Amino acid sequence: MTARIIDGKKLAETIKLNLADRINALKEKDIIPGLTVILVGDDPASQVYVRNKANTFTKLGLNSSVEQYPASLSEEALCNRIRELNNDPSVHGILVQLPLPANLDANKVIETISPEKDVDGFHISNAGALMTGRPLFIPCTPYGVMKMLESEKVELRGAEAVVIGASNIVGKPMALLLQKAGATVTICNSKTKDLAAHTRRADVLVVATGRAEMITGDMIKPGAIVIDVGINRGSDGKLKGDVEFSSAKEVAGAITPVPGGVGPMTIVMLLVNTIEAAERKL
Ligand code: GUN
Repeated sequence: MTARIIDGKKLAETIKLNLADRINALKEKDIIPGLTVILVGDDPASQVYVRNKANTFTKLGLNSSVEQYPASLSEEALCNRIRELNNDPSVHGILVQLPLPANLDANKVIETISPEKDVDGFHISNAGALMTGRPLFIPCTPYGVMKMLESEKVELRGAEAVVIGASNIVGKPMALLLQKAGATVTICNSKTKDLAAHTRRADVLVVATGRAEMITGDMIKPGAIVIDVGINRGSDGKLKGDVEFSSAKEVAGAITPVPGGVGPMTIVMLLVNTIEAAERKL
């Protein structure tokens, strides 16, 4: 059996087209949704992500600006800049690209962002709102994954869902969203014993470990839906997921490719959150 490929790029384009009416309605009221991205330090992968985010906004006629600071920036200076952006009515979304350099306390920085502008959904009050089932902003990557599962008409009620990775950015919010949709959810981490025993039970398997090709076809239940959140640069320079695509596609029912799977969905959900932030100001 060869798995259906879940085309994140195509789905992201469809969602973008469907956003046009909302963007136009805001423009008629002289509102252009605006995102400010803050990048501290010179991590090359972060620079690529940030550029992709900003380009997507610009192409749709939305405002985006990228503020790049040296790794030596003090926490106080960064938090003061965030406070200025909190008070700037032309800025609807503020995104601080993670990871931050080690001398900055990421929690403290994120908690300086106004929750109404926290389009990443990482602020502690937004994380709490998601946990209690009343999210203001859903973190973009898990939000995009849910849209992919929806477009594939995956029945989540009663399904066994296994999430590998327990980060605040992906794993934890992903598990909450799957649980809310009625799945029975297991969260695995790097210390999980007999990982394959868990993954082989999964009707829906979401992999966000940051370790290239660690999930192989023999660890997948035949017919399962496999969502690969990983983006790893191989020694050959090519992008690889956390799932070994060549063996996994022979077993899975459907699978996301890397690139062209979850990545484009993350960016489009950032658009959705920023447009929503602007609409809330009407
Ligand atoms: N680093 C990796 N993914 C993300 C994300 O979705 N948002 C931010 N701010 N940083 C990230």
